[in-house]
Amino acid sequence: MPDTGSAPEPLRVGVVGLGFAGTTALDAFSSLPGVEVVAIAGQEQPRLDELADSRGVPNRYHDWEDLVARDDLDVVTVGVPNHLHAPIAIAALSSGKHVFCEKPLAPTGGLAQSMVDAARKADRVLEIAFNHRRRADVQYLRRYLDEHDIGRIYHARSSWRRRAGIPGLGSWFTNREMAGGGPMVDLGPHMLDIALHLMDEPRVERVSAVAYGELGRGGRGGSTAAKTTGGNRAFEVEDFASALLRLDTGGSIHLETSWASYSADEEDISVELLGATGGVRLFIRDYATDGTIRLYGEEAGAPVVTIPTVHVPAGHHLAVIREFVATVRSGQWANAYGDYALHRSRVIDAVYQSAEEHREVEVA
Ligand SMILES: NC(=O)c1ccc[n+]([C@@H]2O[C@H](COP(=O)([O-])OP(=O)(O)OC[C@H]3O[C@@H](n4cnc5c(N)ncnc54)[C@H](O)[C@@H]3O)[C@@H](O)[C@H]2O)c1
Repeated sequence: MPDTGSAPEPLRVGVVGLGFAGTTALDAFSSLPGVEVVAIAGQEQPRLDELADSRGVPNRYHDWEDLVARDDLDVVTVGVPNHLHAPIAIAALSSGKHVFCEKPLAPTGGLAQSMVDAARKADRVLEIAFNHRRRADVQYLRRYLDEHDIGRIYHARSSWRRRAGIPGLGSWFTNREMAGGGPMVDLGPHMLDIALHLMDEPRVERVSAVAYGELGRGGRGGSTAAKTTGGNRAFEVEDFASALLRLDTGGSIHLETSWASYSADEEDISVELLGATGGVRLFIRDYATDGTIRLYGEEAGAPVVTIPTVHVPAGHHLAVIREFVATVRSGQWANAYGDYALHRSRVIDAVYQSAEEHREVEVA
């Protein structure tokens, strides 16, 4: 066929969820050329109407099942409480849709595995919202490490710590069945993802961890800003977890997450890599967009600290969604069934198992 120069068919997207995740996905997909959000689902009727009306989405549903049942969607996005990720993703994949899913892939590694299996079986893309990895400062560090030798990177410290940031005390976030866990399942996937990405994707083999829920159980440490849904539940998860991860490279990662603690933490994201001949540090306080990187080395026998000027524009969800759309359009997705997100879920399973059993455990 001669190339007529006509544009490809628009990609038709259905968005599930009306909170931060759903709204962010809706706006990101809608902003891309050749992409149409044609359906949206969520249970808060006024918000559903407001979003659908203001963004011109023609079809709206209360329940995700009715959206996924449509046979004219190419993509379903999943921005709902964690326990619904697997059922929605598996139903969408099995009916031939590509899926863009929020982190964590699922509350447990077993459920995450069933999602990846469904993607492989249906031969559809399963992508996960690791938006923080797409920050310009993280990408700068990735490029810096590609272009500079800091020797063997033997250890990383990766943490997300809050002073008082339990996202909705009593919401689905603090319910074990719905969330799967506390900050380790909520913030941990991002911090593990950034560390593994910067360390060239080693495999985590063994984990030794602790977890506590001292503040949340006493009704302390709640975020005043959280607008999450599903209130009035008991606090059943940890508010602090800390883990030592042993890697197949012989290296290690100290992964720490907290929603709340009596400490100097505010809203602190930190990743440090220790190399044999140099080091790097990312420190983001309160979602800072400048001055977040330090590079450590040695010159003429003296320690040197370099502070690169890297500004972090907004739009990290847009970046990962743009990559997802490009993968779908390319028709080449044999490596895009969600396996790398599955490994992160398996590691987090091992963190909880280790904390519960008070011993080092192997990652499945
Ligand atoms: N990547 C990130 O930076 C990031 C940030 C925030 C949240 N998240 C993730 O996004 C997901 C949602 O978080 P949120 O803060 O937007 O939650 P939220 O509580 O604000 O919103 C959840 C939405 O799910 C909808 N929902 C629940 N049950 C439903 C059903 N049966 N059918 C249709 N819709 C249903 C609710 O109506 C609500 O609109 C979570 O997995 C969370 O971990 C990721």
